[in-house]
Amino acid sequence: MSFYKEKLDKARLPKHIAIIMDGNGRWAKERGYDRIFGHQNGVTSVREITEAAAEIGIEYLTLYAFSTENWGRPQPEVEALMELLIDTIEKETPSLNQNNIRLMAIGDLSRLPDYAREKLQRCIDQTSQNSGLTLVLALSYSSRWEITNALKNICEGVQSGKYNIDDISDKLISDHLTTKSIPDPDLMIRTSGEERVSNFLLWQIAYSELYFTQTHWPAFRKDNFYQAIYEFQQRDRRFGK
Ligand code: FPP
Repeated sequence: MSFYKEKLDKARLPKHIAIIMDGNGRWAKERGYDRIFGHQNGVTSVREITEAAAEIGIEYLTLYAFSTENWGRPQPEVEALMELLIDTIEKETPSLNQNNIRLMAIGDLSRLPDYAREKLQRCIDQTSQNSGLTLVLALSYSSRWEITNALKNICEGVQSGKYNIDDISDKLISDHLTTKSIPDPDLMIRTSGEERVSNFLLWQIAYSELYFTQTHWPAFRKDNFYQAIYEFQQRDRRFGK
């Protein structure tokens, strides 16, 4: 049943939606299960929201699947999360292809275990020709890591004479981020009641609308997603003008 889907203005959909998927642990705990059960159910939400985004014609969906900070969680949880992520990506590759979805990844992928990086790359290669939704997974991602990296690359460029100081612009910086081919998000969603951005796409959300909901990620399903887009469409975006 989808109440909000019918209310959407199809001509004014956000091009890019970014989501901080939060609350898996709390959702599981409230039901007396361990955290990984929450992550497992979070995968169902990932599948549903990806399908919903493709269905209504969103161009880019970015999911914060694993942050740089997540490496600091207890080792068994890190391992279980990594396995779940990579198994899901591998298992869902045929369905991504059936739905014309292209997979991309942003983040410090050099920190992923070899098996994970290889399987991820396989899925990226196998879906690279798809022209529908682009699903961007942020893996081992943090915005400060990304900006630091961009700065280093730009400085090297200045040192080697490729750029002058005056060449450094908004666009040059954007072009050195891992999101360089991706438009900035129009809408950023965070589930589970927390109202902060947690080192996610700090540069890119300069003019994004932020949407916070109490719903935990494993309970966040299609109609919750359409509701977020509906609320987005009620806002007046002026871009500082
Ligand atoms: C936040 O909940 C969620 C994560 C850190 C991981 C998100 C990962 C998935 C939903 C798994 C699969 C993803 C893909 C793309 C296949 P939390 O553990 O921080 O919850 P808490 O704040 O309640 O502790």
